[in-house]
Amino acid sequence: MSLDQIRTLAVVVDRHHSTSARRGSMPNIPAMGPTGLKRHIVRRKHGDVSAVETGGDTMAPVIQIDGVAKKYRLGKDNHVHALRGTSIEIHKGEMVAIMGPSGSGKSTLMHIVGCLDTPDGGSVVLNGRRVDTLRDRELTRVRSAEIGFIFQGFNLIPTLSAIDNVALAGEYAGMARREAVARAEELLDLVGLAERKRHLPSELSGGQQQRVAIARSLMNRPAIVLGDEPTGDLDTSTSEEIMGVMREVNLATGTTFVLVTHNPEVAEACDRTIRMRDGAVEDDGLAGRVEEAFSDVGVIDPVFATGCCA
Ligand SMILES: Nc1ncnc2c1ncn2[C@@H]1O[C@H](COP(=O)(O)OP(=O)(O)O)[C@@H](O)[C@H]1O
Ligand SMILES: [Mg+2]
Repeated sequence: MSLDQIRTLAVVVDRHHSTSARRGSMPNIPAMGPTGLKRHIVRRKHGDVSAVETGGDTMAPVIQIDGVAKKYRLGKDNHVHALRGTSIEIHKGEMVAIMGPSGSGKSTLMHIVGCLDTPDGGSVVLNGRRVDTLRDRELTRVRSAEIGFIFQGFNLIPTLSAIDNVALAGEYAGMARREAVARAEELLDLVGLAERKRHLPSELSGGQQQRVAIARSLMNRPAIVLGDEPTGDLDTSTSEEIMGVMREVNLATGTTFVLVTHNPEVAEACDRTIRMRDGAVEDDGLAGRVEEAFSDVGVIDPVFATGCCA
């Protein structure tokens, strides 16, 4: 089966499973515990989309990187090739895990997709717009309008309350203070922190701090949220809780999530896992999804099935 066939089928699978939620206002949804998450994964894998309205353009990739290379200079004649011609497409509303050994280029990839760094070669298109050729000022603008970040260490400002940490991201992007605070309140409700809005980070648990960071990442209605090991500092049950919160946000808003993780359970909770090795994609998870879809509709051999459809 050719890569193009796999891609086309993967889109069909997306349609079949209706994984793309409509972007719009965020309903107030309670944060889910681990049980909720498991129930949700089952629901999603079996295509019951009662909680989701379908719509939007599932065909358009929200992230399209093609042949991206990045090398770091270590000395006069010494380079590290962090990325060697990496190509990935991620569609709107997808929740994707990135896995791979340490040093395989995961963080470099996130920095490039997040417009924190530019590649040495190849192209990066976000939401239909080429960004690898932009200058610093434009990159900053795209980053603030299109991208939300969630970090392993939460990165909250210790002297600001939860609500001020979240509101600041909006004010920084030009939102009026009153509007920013109102939206921060809504977002903290969304991530299940309604009772803790006025607390300082030091008065919150790790899981609660990460909920604040998720709310902050959503402040400017980004198309894409990037997380570099967002559950890396959390215990197993708190990781599941945080994955549940991100999944609910993903479904409620259609925001695309790309999460670097070492945790197989986090990857299992995502729609697709991209595996990296030595600065390149080893497996982008598309073939597995096609097989899963065919097994869902009762066809045993996906290659045979493709022959029939072609
Ligand atoms: N700023 C940097 N300067 C020099 N080398 C770097 C820098 N950032 C990353 N690298 C190197 O690039 C490679 C990929 O790193 P990274 O993207 O951080 O991998 P991962 O996140 O998968 O662990 C590694 O060999 C790393 O040492
Ligand atoms: Mg890393």
